Amino acid sequence: MLFLQISLLAVLLGGGDSEDAFQDQIFRIIGTFSLHNRSWAHSWGSGWLGELQTYSWNSSSRGFISRRPWSNGNLSKKEVTETEELLEAKHNELLHLFHKHANEWMLEYPFEIQCTVGCELHSGKLKLDFWRFAYQGSEILSFQNSSWVPSLQGGTRAQKMCKMLNKNIILNKLIYWRVSKICPRFLLGVLDAGKADLQRKVKPEAWLSTGPSPGHHHLLLVCHVSGFYPKPISVTWMRGEQAQQASQQSDILPNADGTWYLRSYLDVEATKTSGLSCRVTHSSLEGQDIILYLDRPTSKGLIIVAVMVPLVLLLIGLAFWLKKRWKHCEPPPTLHPLERFQQPRDSKHT
Ligand SMILES: *[C@@H]1O[C@H](CO)[C@@H](O)[C@H](O)[C@H]1NC(C)=O
Repeated sequence: MLFLQISLLAVLLGGGDSEDAFQDQIFRIIGTFSLHNRSWAHSWGSGWLGELQTYSWNSSSRGFISRRPWSNGNLSKKEVTETEELLEAKHNELLHLFHKHANEWMLEYPFEIQCTVGCELHSGKLKLDFWRFAYQGSEILSFQNSSWVPSLQGGTRAQKMCKMLNKNIILNKLIYWRVSKICPRFLLGVLDAGKADLQRKVKPEAWLSTGPSPGHHHLLLVCHVSGFYPKPISVTWMRGEQAQQASQQSDILPNADGTWYLRSYLDVEATKTSGLSCRVTHSSLEGQDIILYLDRPTSKGLIIVAVMVPLVLLLIGLAFWLKKRWKHCEPPPTLHPLERFQQPRDSKHT
């Protein structure tokens, strides 16, 4: 039954242009334990459906805080509470063990332990992406088929930790059973409940600026792209039709409203900026790429100067001429102004 549902969902989400949708078929809880000393620690957690945050948690909040109206999918209140309790119990047990065995496991205060747990649908197949742990940013162990396994780079520290954590066979089996039972059903429910948010598309805004000069006679051009959703995007510096391979891209950073932001940099010689543009391709634009042409402020300034200076000179000249004429034409009222006006012109031409 479950597999039928999964394949059905894969057909629904996998058809057409659903590379984006596939990225969203992952649910993950990420946790960070920050241990300052033997008596002081703080932990944070968050739940993510693909790139959308659906839960937040910290050691002083009671339970998980839902970040979306559909965060719990189709789980009953009881199931949510039980899962929260299980995760909190596991968190407390681990925190206790880290403090207790800090010496033996060669964990040096202050240190951070990061963990992730979740499940995902991959090409219509369910994959249990079980607990993985990192110490000071590098992976040390993972939980597979109800037991802990040291990772290659984990060394003796990881082996010692696994040995200890694997002693609790019953709890490990219970956790494996719970997560493998709840997570896939939860994932299917929440993918359906959050469909509108998951499939929304928000168009980016883009603008250009210059960064700090990277060297003598060089400019750092920056193309900013902000406010887009979903995350996959392509931002390219072009010269004419030619993509500039030398450009560099920042990480894609989150905005507070759940959309994304990124910058693309190009280091160019100050004299070689003509024909440059920044091109943004994103699913929300439906083929209508944003193209920003470089119009350097200095050249804009030059154009303004080139237009303004003769205009001002002309106006000054005109003012002087008029003033002179005025003085001349005031006393003798005999001539018609037009005649007076035409006189000098005619004399010039002859
Ligand atoms: C542990 O760290 C906390 C926070 O940095 C600090 O306030 C506290 O005094 C420390 N305790 C000990 C025993 O060093």
